[in-house]
Formats: sequence, structure tokens, C-alpha cells
Amino acid sequence: MSVIILGIETSCDETAAAVVVDGVQIKSNIIASQVAVHAKFGGVVPEVAARKHLELINQVIIAALTKAGLTYQDINAVAVTCGPGLVGALLVGVAAAKALAYALPSVALIGVNHLEGHIYANFLERPDLDFPLLCLVVSGGHTDLVLITHHGSYQLLGGTLDDAAGEAFDKVARALGLGYPGGPLISRLARQGNAQSIPLPRAYLAADSLDFSFSGLKSAVLNYLNQAKQKNIAVNTADVVASFQQAVVDVLVDKTLLAAKKHHVKTVLLAGGVAANELLRQQLRQVGKDAGLMITYPPPIFCTDNAAMIACCGYYKYLRSEFAPLTLNAVPRLSLGKG
Ligand code: KG4
Ligand code: ZN
Repeated sequence: MSVIILGIETSCDETAAAVVVDGVQIKSNIIASQVAVHAKFGGVVPEVAARKHLELINQVIIAALTKAGLTYQDINAVAVTCGPGLVGALLVGVAAAKALAYALPSVALIGVNHLEGHIYANFLERPDLDFPLLCLVVSGGHTDLVLITHHGSYQLLGGTLDDAAGEAFDKVARALGLGYPGGPLISRLARQGNAQSIPLPRAYLAADSLDFSFSGLKSAVLNYLNQAKQKNIAVNTADVVASFQQAVVDVLVDKTLLAAKKHHVKTVLLAGGVAANELLRQQLRQVGKDAGLMITYPPPIFCTDNAAMIACCGYYKYLRSEFAPLTLNAVPRLSLGKG
């Protein structure tokens, strides 16, 4: 019998609900983006995000069920992001999911870690992926290298010591007055620039380190812009963003390859909003191919926040009977492997 999961995602600035059958058939994938609301502030305002989620959550859930041609009674479980993320934002999704599970005794409740959700975006199209897997999770809040030995088992090999890759994209875009979120704007503009034009640092840390650091690179870009301003030199914005993007991608790709080699992993996944980046996808696939690795990543729409990935992850938890009690709570700093 099929397992039908309603996924709910409200950890940051997308209010999302999706219906996924057996972890692969996406019956609906509704994403109400708040980007326009937050863009005028240059970033996500947590209080505004929580209020927007509250306004949108019921409509989004109903839209997901309607699009799927299903009713609440057809659902086997509701899988909801319970962390990490903004606490007020997370609480809206968690409360909605708990209300459904409480009102409908046949509907199980499943708590999903947002990062685990990002990883499972890969399983939506590739349920046959062979373990062990290495995943580079790159988003607005995380830059993590994760070793996955089987479903639900995660070992953090490295992470960022300061800014996440997506955060660096957003901060550089803000400094250049490009808008929010910075990643898609930078990657589009970078196509017109010369990535070799401005020498920028790449922080590799210790030779075998799998940790990341992007704050030095971000500061180097800001210094370059300040010096140009002081000297009254015109800045070619496309060259700046192309050089910046190349520096981020070089480090991400090199460290991912190093991790695969160190841990003898042959299949490498990308996940998270920055995984939508064209240059990262191309460069990792090229270099990975040369190293005999299988590189895979979700379509861009499933890289950024969505609820289909949460439903997909929920499906594997459902198979393992990993259900949450009705006391499930939002945990803003939830780490991978817990929840
Ligand atoms: O996964 P996500 O939607 O939300 C978080 O969990 O953080 O990731 C959002 C981040 C933002 O920092 C955004 O600028 C970045 O992903 N991003 C990109 C691209 N699309 C989104 N960064 C680089 N290139 C892109 N094409
Ligand atoms: Zn995310």
C-alpha cells in the first residue's frame, strides 16, 4: 500500500506544503515565498516571517491537498520541519502539523530536521542512491560536509567556522546593492564577468581540514570595494561577483573532493539553496567525473526551501516508525541526526 505524506516547511521565509507518495511521486509542491516582503529590509526579519507564515499556512496546506486531489483523511502522516531555523517561523509549521495529527487520529506526526530534508531532496528523483553517501549541504545557514552510511545516519565531517556560503553570497550582494537573496542575483550577473579578474583569498585552513571559512573572503570583497571608492576607481560589479563566486566554488569543490577521498565515498550529493548555483554544479560534476565519482544534485526548485523534501525525508522516517509525540517542539539550533 502507498504511503502518502503531507510535508510542511516554515523554517525561514518560505511557507511550503507538499504531498509526496512513497517518497517519489510529488503530487503537489506549494511554495509561498516571502522574498518580496523581506527584500526591502535586505534580509529575513524573523518577526515578520513568523507573522507571514501564520497568515499563509492554512491556505498553503489546503492548496497542497487540493492540487493532489486528496483530503486530510487520505494522508498517512504529516512531516514537519522542527529545526533548525527561526523559532517563531518553525513554531507555525509545528503547531499546524500537531493540530492535524491531534484532530485526525489516523495521521501520524513526524518531525524532520531541515538539513536532513535538504539531503533527501536528492532521494525525490534518486531513491536508488547507494550508501555510503557524502553530501555537501550548502544553504543560507549551513556549509556542512555530511557522511551518510545508511538512511537516517549522519556524521558531520566538517562545517563552517563563521559565515555559511549562502550567507556570504547574501552579504556580498547587499554590499553591492544587488538585493536579496544574493545567491541567484550573483550567479546571474557573474555570467557577464571575468572570474579571474580580481585576486581573492581561498581559505583552506589546515591542509586536511574539512571545515570552511568564508568571512575572510567576504571581508576581502568589502575591502576591495572600499579601496576602489576611496581611490575613485570604477568597479566592474560583474567582475567582482564572478571572482567572488569562483573563490567560493573552488573551496567548496576542493573540500568535497578531499572528503570523498578521505572517507572512500564514491557518490556525492549537493543539497541546500547554494546547490542551485550553476557554477558549483558544473565544476563539481566536472572535477568529480575526473576523480571517478558519481555527482548528483536535485533540480534547483528542490535545492531551495520546499516541503517536498520534508515529505520525502518523512517517508523514510515513516518506514522506520520514527514518529513524534504531540509534544513535538520547535528547536532553533537542532543539529543533524536529532529530530
Ligand atoms: O536552503 P535555502 O533556501 O534556505 C536555508 O535553509 O538557508 O538557502 C538559501 C540560500 C541563500 O543564502 C541564497 O542566497 C542561496 O541559498 N542561493 C544561492 C543560489 N540560490 C539560492 N546561492 C548561490 N547561487 C544560487 N543560484
Ligand atoms: Zn534551507
